[in-house]
Amino acid sequence: MRLASIIGLTLALVATGSHGQQASDRHAPEAGTGGAAPVQAGKARDFMVVAAHPLAAEAGRAILAEGGSAADALVAVQLVLGLVEPQSSGLGGGGFLLHWSAEAGRLITLDGRETAPAAAGPDLFLGADGKPLPFFAAVVGGRSVGTPATLRLLEEIHRRAGRLPFERLLAPAIALADAGFPVSPRLAALIAAEGERLKHDGEAARYFFAADGRPLAAGAVLRNPAYAETLRRIAEGGVDAFYSGEIADDIVARVTGDALNPGALAESDLENYKVIERNPVCAPAFGYDICGMGPPSSGGIAVIQILSLAEAGGLGALAPGSAAAWRVIGEASRLAFADRERWLADPAFFRVPANGLIAPGYLALRARLLDGTAAQGPVMPGPVPAGQPAQDSGHLAPLPGAGAGPDFPSTTQVVIRDAAGDVISYTGTIENGFGSRLMVRGFLLNNELTDFSFAAADAAGLAVANRVEGGKRPRSSMAPTIVFRDGRPVLAIGSPGGSRIIGFVAQALIGHLVWGQDPATALAAPHLLNRFGPFELEAGTAASDLAPGLQALGYRTEITDLNSGLAAIAIGPDGLSGAADPRREGAVAGQ
Ligand code: GLY
Repeated sequence: MRLASIIGLTLALVATGSHGQQASDRHAPEAGTGGAAPVQAGKARDFMVVAAHPLAAEAGRAILAEGGSAADALVAVQLVLGLVEPQSSGLGGGGFLLHWSAEAGRLITLDGRETAPAAAGPDLFLGADGKPLPFFAAVVGGRSVGTPATLRLLEEIHRRAGRLPFERLLAPAIALADAGFPVSPRLAALIAAEGERLKHDGEAARYFFAADGRPLAAGAVLRNPAYAETLRRIAEGGVDAFYSGEIADDIVARVTGDALNPGALAESDLENYKVIERNPVCAPAFGYDICGMGPPSSGGIAVIQILSLAEAGGLGALAPGSAAAWRVIGEASRLAFADRERWLADPAFFRVPANGLIAPGYLALRARLLDGTAAQGPVMPGPVPAGQPAQDSGHLAPLPGAGAGPDFPSTTQVVIRDAAGDVISYTGTIENGFGSRLMVRGFLLNNELTDFSFAAADAAGLAVANRVEGGKRPRSSMAPTIVFRDGRPVLAIGSPGGSRIIGFVAQALIGHLVWGQDPATALAAPHLLNRFGPFELEAGTAASDLAPGLQALGYRTEITDLNSGLAAIAIGPDGLSGAADPRREGAVAGQ
């Protein structure tokens, strides 16, 4: 690994102030070839990686250039992200992975979601008064920490599709952690915004703040010897060195020993953790096959529902980006979120009608609520009801309760295409920015358990499918997606953003597949989201121009920050075209 050139290259990026530039300033004709500076959009012939930080993208590029597979590159990329973008994902978190094997002609999906400790129960996030805790009272400390899963997921995809030795893939992150890396403007801003909350834990306070208590500044070189040491132990002992022994003991001690908010994680939770291969969820829309992650993520099903319902609602005939087009997308999204709230949870604990929710007959029935092709028709009076999908047996399941738990933006997205044609879309997370704020041996622990419904039953007394239960995986919104045409992958995409992930990914898919935008344009397009009725319009963008038109259709509109972190690679006859979201610090690298 050419460490010096990587660090020099990133310093140059920071010094030239890439942060905050417009997307168009950062477009370049060729993705970083060899030592060229990473860019946020570009083309390549053989292979490509898009990740949320230039150092991570470069680590993946170097592995691919060495003959590594997409799976190999992902290991290197995620481990570097855990260092340079520690607030979003890492060893202390989890993720979902789509992997297309060109040789086998097969798509697999792997569930590396964290699990609730076996000892956790439905009252985990209820206060002494029996009411749901305020969000940050639940998040900060050990209570919210689920069993970390990232390393088991990386181990599994490497076992199935890796080419280079696992320890080789740890080397870039170890070298960077030893030598130090420049704190990015985004990381510096997020540390400053966190303030006292990030000082809850001594190790995190010492790492993210100077001795005088000031937050780290952008450009400061940050070393993480503890992270390097953790990775060295894994390089020597394999991933098992994390899941039992001293590292596991330290994780458990930090979670259970938290003075303010102790959690119930046990050594046995770590020892018993298993990655699960799940059936992808795939369905046609607009002439493509859209494939995503099934439950416990709601992401794949919701994205498919939005595209399918929007197609049935006549989106293809409406002017791209018009209020009428957004009415159809917005109503489709409301329907998808109504189903998501009731039906999506860990399938090991609740019989999720996953096939029923994307069955053509069911979607056709739901599409009727969109008022057919009458795009000027009335907005559905809220609240929108969940549908009644069939189980695989054909039976209709009793409607579960509506969950209650906040969803805050978080998370990271990686897409990779290697020289052999393998494709990965991976979304990784420690949930909220900086997770539980607990740091152990150089990495942050997740607060993934706050993705459960805090309340176990809804106001009508119906049990919530996504309630906390021991060993259960919290519902996710992560939506790593691969799009196929005639059986071949043509696009890999995904985004961070909590429950907004679903709308970010659906919008970018519509932009690229339906409105013909190239990946950079689709990712940079001003966001409009509709989850629960009101339209959210991205502040500081042309999205607000649509407010009068949407209000005339009957919507309440709200201008707000919509900070996606999309990453995409389009795969065409002319090669690879990739883009990273201009709202964050991601980079495209390839050759
Ligand atoms: N914690 C983000 C998600 O899983 O949706």
